[in-house]
Amino acid sequence: MNKISLVLIALALISQIKCQNEEVESDFQAYNKWRSKNKRVFLNQEEETYRQLIFFENLNQIKAHQNNTEATYTVSLNKFSDYSDEEFEQIILNKHIQRFQPDIQEEQQPKENLRKAVSYPDSVDWRNTGALSPVQDQGWCGSCSAFGTAGVLESFHYLRYNYMVKFSEQQLLDCARQAGFDTHGCNGAFQQDYFKYAIKYGIVSAASYPYVGYQTACKNTSNLPKYFPQSFKFIRSNIPDIKSAISQGPISVTVDASNWRSYQGGIFNRCSRNPQLNHAVIAVGYDAQGNYIIKNSWGPYWGDKGYITVSAQNDCGVLRSAIQVVS
Ligand SMILES: *[C@@H]1O[C@H](CO)[C@@H](O)[C@H](O)[C@H]1NC(C)=O
Ligand SMILES: *[C@@H]1O[C@H](CO)[C@@H](O)[C@H](O)[C@H]1NC(C)=O
Repeated sequence: MNKISLVLIALALISQIKCQNEEVESDFQAYNKWRSKNKRVFLNQEEETYRQLIFFENLNQIKAHQNNTEATYTVSLNKFSDYSDEEFEQIILNKHIQRFQPDIQEEQQPKENLRKAVSYPDSVDWRNTGALSPVQDQGWCGSCSAFGTAGVLESFHYLRYNYMVKFSEQQLLDCARQAGFDTHGCNGAFQQDYFKYAIKYGIVSAASYPYVGYQTACKNTSNLPKYFPQSFKFIRSNIPDIKSAISQGPISVTVDASNWRSYQGGIFNRCSRNPQLNHAVIAVGYDAQGNYIIKNSWGPYWGDKGYITVSAQNDCGVLRSAIQVVS
């Protein structure tokens, strides 16, 4: 189906439902309010109509969720509300995570079979401790891995030296590929490659190399102060090891965020039973029920002030390829 016929169908549907009832009236009010709040501008009427139709579909899903009295989490309109699931996956989610498997050979795990039992507290929450920079916004760019990596390095640096430096996602985005790593700018990357880049070349502050939201030519950073992390490791995919790692500091994790788009708060439990990893984020805690607290990079107005809590029983793949900075 081409774009014009889509738009014609959209127009027909909208004018059809327009006649129906007051609920539609309130949907249009919701749309207008949302649109001015989100400062949407469109190229032409066709585009506006197309986006409006998607908005109404999303609004319906949100209403259906709000009708579900058994839901453990809430949803709301947000900046993604006039994008389709497909567009959301294409633009925001990371297309290059799934292809990679953790480099298990690089693990520096103890070789002996009898490891000492790991211990960890009942709950951990690194929010409001100073160890996390403010929630960032990757914008319309699949750069989650750069945010996941820079954020974990910030926390590690903070916990070691007791002062916060916001590190540069843009440097990772621009420079890792030029340095020979298999990273793809706004089309995604695996965090492992960004950690390796930072270990080899150092990472500069975001103040000296600010985020612009698209890939640019790698700037010459030779005169800028840099932080050189020394090593990282993959964490074994089991709950005690992950919790123990989180209790030492925020860690890098990869999740299936396909259904996260409208999340607002509460315990999220609608990930696929077979998660397709497509988004890099930071695990910053867990509660006494074992639910994981995650720092996202979709800005502070998404979710719970930029964070999401995912269910211990439906964890979106959090355990699968977690990375901890070691030194
Ligand atoms: C929500 O529930 C109300 C009342 O039962 C119903 O009229 C409405 O159609 C439902 N909305 C959705 C989107 O399911
Ligand atoms: C980067 O800048 C430094 C200092 O100004 C200079 O010596 C070096 O040649 C530059 N490197 C590149 C690749 O341009």
